Amino acid sequence: MPLSDCRQINLPKITDQRGNLTFVEGGNHIPFDIKRVYYLYDVPGGSDRGEHAHKNLHQFVVCMSGSFDLLLKDGTNDRRFHLNRSYYGIYVCPMMWRYLDNFSSGAVCMVLASEAYDESDYIRDWDEYLAALQIPDRSGLPR
Ligand code: TYD
Repeated sequence: MPLSDCRQINLPKITDQRGNLTFVEGGNHIPFDIKRVYYLYDVPGGSDRGEHAHKNLHQFVVCMSGSFDLLLKDGTNDRRFHLNRSYYGIYVCPMMWRYLDNFSSGAVCMVLASEAYDESDYIRDWDEYLAALQIPDRSGLPR
């Protein structure tokens, strides 16, 4: 799947004087059924997360509070998304290298995922990732 398949998806927002409400339905608002939810929080300033790809996992990344950046790479092109609202998220298709940085204090990153946790679905080595994409060895060159 190409990097252009990764995109911002706006979610329903029910505005109300009592506070806003947003909801996500698997297979409806996002293009997969949700099997797992996890979240990053209490991220120390200057910390980065991610730095890996998933072979088969589909994910949807939402900033529930604060802000952070999501950088996606497909071995050739890069896209950086700044997330700072909880009524939209970024769909991340399989085989994208992802990197999260610029976490504000109090940032909460929620991820909806298409499968249960499975370490064998991860590619944590950049050169292994390029090899899996059948991109010629560029070890030694900047990511
Ligand atoms: P990891 O996915 O590497 O974190 P990130 O990409 O956000 O930097 O996961 C960190 C650790 O948490 C790793 O030891 C695996 C574990 N983990 C689970 O046990 N279950 C999960 O659902 C996730 C996402 C991670």
